[in-house]
Amino acid sequence: MPVRFDGRVAIVTGAGSGLGRSHALMLASRGAKVVVNDLGGALDGAGRSSEAADRVVAEIKAGGAEALANYDSVSDEAGAKRLIENAVSRFGRIDVLVNNAGILRDKTFAKMASEDFRAVVDVHLMGSVYCTAAAWPHMREAGYGRIVMTSSGAGLYGNFGQSNYGAAKMALVGLVNVIKLEGRKNGILINTVAPIAATRMTEALMPKHALPYLKSEYVSAAVLYLCSEECQSSGDVISVGAGYLAKTSMMEAEGVYLAQDQAADPDSVAAAYDKITDMSSARPFASAAEYVDHVLARF
Ligand code: NAI
Repeated sequence: MPVRFDGRVAIVTGAGSGLGRSHALMLASRGAKVVVNDLGGALDGAGRSSEAADRVVAEIKAGGAEALANYDSVSDEAGAKRLIENAVSRFGRIDVLVNNAGILRDKTFAKMASEDFRAVVDVHLMGSVYCTAAAWPHMREAGYGRIVMTSSGAGLYGNFGQSNYGAAKMALVGLVNVIKLEGRKNGILINTVAPIAATRMTEALMPKHALPYLKSEYVSAAVLYLCSEECQSSGDVISVGAGYLAKTSMMEAEGVYLAQDQAADPDSVAAAYDKITDMSSARPFASAAEYVDHVLARF
């Protein structure tokens, strides 16, 4: 079955440019009615304009599909609620939410003002929380929902000068680890992409020769699959860019079990540290409950 969204309503945040624009266009080309949210600000979040969202709505309409623009900031809780209500009042339902909006305020941690830290967390983490929380009751009632979060290698693996961004992006993974457990019984599945693409956010950072291979559409293809009815996974984190796709996961080493008389002794920890940190037989856990069971299994 081809991935289609006929009769479905999708909201894409930050859809006025870059990846969000590409997700919105591809969703519309596959039958979705799309709500194009964008604040229309600069890369650091300053300013706002309705132009970016309007332009994408016009593109979608020119292709013969239905779309609605919304200019609210996802980092404003009332704005996020308005976004979801706009979608419901215009199209009657919400099937898909792609949390994609983002800003950057890079600085080394030593120079990072708490205001710049908070601004980035407010958009990436709290923006995703507000939009998801506002969409949740509609999806619960329908017994169906697909949500995609947008994380980043900067959070999963670290990147110099991006402590605010990395913290917010990794926090999304923690959020999904919990709500994937709470959503499934109501048919709400939530997955995450960690993209790499040439957009205004990254163009200056990527090697020039690689730019033609870093098409936003390559990321959108993964986003569309993850928010389709066909996808039955929840909680997956998919690295995607330049045609590369791979699941990434929090893994735990096989570890050691210290005897009770050694377990409170730092010297025993030091002696076992190579084994504790040996990831050669590492495994993931599906939930904290499974992890606690594993830790306590020998008792
Ligand atoms: P972009 O700067 O082209 O797009 C981000 C969009 O979000 C902009 O149109 C902006 O106006 C909008 N936006 C910003 N704050 C907003 C707010 N408060 N409310 C509503 N809209 C808002 O950048 P790009 O690359 O398309 O980024 C999309 C997402 O992908 C971001 O979450 C970013 O962190 C993430 N990402 C991108 C990577 C890449 O290689 N391009 C790498 C890793 C993550």
